[in-house]
Amino acid sequence: MAARDHRQWINVADTGALAKAAAGRLLARVEANAARIAICLTGGSSPKQLYALLATKAYRDKIPWDRVHWFIGDERFVPPADLLNNMAMARRIFLDAYAPPSNIHPIPTDTGSPDESAERYARELKSFYGADRLDQGRPLFDLVLMGVGPDGHTASIFPGYPALSETERWVVGVPKANVEPFVPRVTLTLPVLASCREMLFEVAGPDKRGIMTRVLGGERLPANRARSNGETVWLVDKAALPETFRGE
Ligand code: 6PG
Repeated sequence: MAARDHRQWINVADTGALAKAAAGRLLARVEANAARIAICLTGGSSPKQLYALLATKAYRDKIPWDRVHWFIGDERFVPPADLLNNMAMARRIFLDAYAPPSNIHPIPTDTGSPDESAERYARELKSFYGADRLDQGRPLFDLVLMGVGPDGHTASIFPGYPALSETERWVVGVPKANVEPFVPRVTLTLPVLASCREMLFEVAGPDKRGIMTRVLGGERLPANRARSNGETVWLVDKAALPETFRGE
């Protein structure tokens, strides 16, 4: 695939190779930081294989669990026990078995509203970061994982929604989702997601081919507007790659 801008596009054979490549990049970010590490996970189905890989001995033994803090880029406003809950999915697959509970930072959903959850999570992020304003030279996260939805959304930032242009608030409530599951959401905003050393998209499967045609066509979709202040990498498997971009 040709480089289209400063983002890096990496094409891999299949979902297995995608998870392996993502796990390798995650470990590299962990190894590059000898101090406290912050990783922002994502929901949806795309990262499940990566999370399962991190639980295997070859990877989990290389993670300094005491020093790594795990956050989530967006959450469905459902209780933690609900199968739709993003952080609960990551907890079930790998976090609960290996991460100290105090290093797991879920978006709370036991509040009165998505806005209240957003405010609470913003406070938690600011206290972890140690400041109320983000400094370009000191990223909040080492790594931010992302996915892309059929309408071009990423995290829970949907096309045309106010969350897309939010520049002040760190986290916002989203009363209604644009795609399934149609539950309210809570999402980190673009400037906060950008505050990372690396933003890593994982995209796989033939169902993503339509949206990848639009992404690669340069449409102003939320997923195309999500960029790291550091490196932005898109890992795309063959099945998700539109015909016209194969073999480049
Ligand atoms: C969510 C996500 C969302 C997701 C994309 C891709 O809560 O749904 O965080 O942004 O990453 O919709 O989802 P899939 O991986 O399931 O295709």
